[in-house]
Amino acid sequence: MSSQSDLNLPEESNFAPTLERWYEHHKRNLPWRHTRDPYRIWLSEVILQQTRVAQGLPYYERFVEAYPTVTDMARADERDLLRLWQGLGYYSRARNLHQTARLIANELDGKFPRSYNSLLKLKGIGTYTAAAIASFAFGERVPVVDGNVYRVLARVFGIAEDITTTTAKKTFAALAVQLINYAIDPATYNQAIMEFGAIQCTPVSPDCMLCPFQQSCVAYQTGRQQSLPVKAKKAPVRERFFHYFVFQNNGRLALRERTSRDVWQNLYDFALLETDEPKTTFRELGLAGPLENWVLRGHQTAAPMVITQLLSHQRIRATFYAFDLPDSVAGSLPDGLAWYLPDEVRALPKPLLIVNYLEGRLDK
Ligand code: ADE
Repeated sequence: MSSQSDLNLPEESNFAPTLERWYEHHKRNLPWRHTRDPYRIWLSEVILQQTRVAQGLPYYERFVEAYPTVTDMARADERDLLRLWQGLGYYSRARNLHQTARLIANELDGKFPRSYNSLLKLKGIGTYTAAAIASFAFGERVPVVDGNVYRVLARVFGIAEDITTTTAKKTFAALAVQLINYAIDPATYNQAIMEFGAIQCTPVSPDCMLCPFQQSCVAYQTGRQQSLPVKAKKAPVRERFFHYFVFQNNGRLALRERTSRDVWQNLYDFALLETDEPKTTFRELGLAGPLENWVLRGHQTAAPMVITQLLSHQRIRATFYAFDLPDSVAGSLPDGLAWYLPDEVRALPKPLLIVNYLEGRLDK
């Protein structure tokens, strides 16, 4: 049996050059790897924090087409920008993107700050994104550190600290700074470690058989690929029950902008009653006010439809009740609701849950 002392421990000085060599042979051809434009790099990295490369690519292409420069994005209507972001989640990221684009266009003459420290001051740009832009666009020797990097370093160097803790984050950040010192090119090295985490040292089934670190990887040598990195269990998921009242009149639908500091801020949905327990009858829901009036005067057009959406910390179980409203009650709309024609509904930014509900409905 091998013990820790038999290990051919990884050398910090070999890590970066080995990874850079691996990258030259394995890298995918991705559009943001052919540019040094900080705007496009920023855009791609913000999108890729939300989703995987395959899903993120079409979003990136649509954004670049709609807003080729930071100045174009600064001029965008926020609604259009949110509509392009639709489906990526964490909509505050899209709003931050817009605010930062405006600041760069209006106050910095359309030019991105060129250093890690000055990039960090911008809204929505954290340590990861600042390091990505500073290295990819400007060649600064600062390491990217994200979930991919925690995984690779935890496995190769056998770090068993819980990655949700501040101390572990400091350990990984300090090691990352050491490692990038030996890189031939910091931009290549940062792309390489992201790529390595994405396609080789993957969460569930890393490809250890063809790995350049096989001989020295602590996780591989001790059979701990599945238990590294160590991550404390997430907080329990909050259960929410949404009851949507979908009113229609003469082919129009009643929607409203969500304005509160809750999920989906600035996106559009329908008249809503929320409960923290499941409710299956209107009586149980305790309808009151204009909503009750509309439900009583309306004509239910379909059986209730249930759609569930899992967000990172909450599960939303939505029931949709569809009603046709007679013209006599459709005139005055409460609660910020307004009537929209099908094409207008399509153009509004909406949560994926609402998009899924509407799919098939609008086309009928
Ligand atoms: N995920 C986030 N950024 C990435 C990048 N630059 N390459 C591959 N995957 C990524």
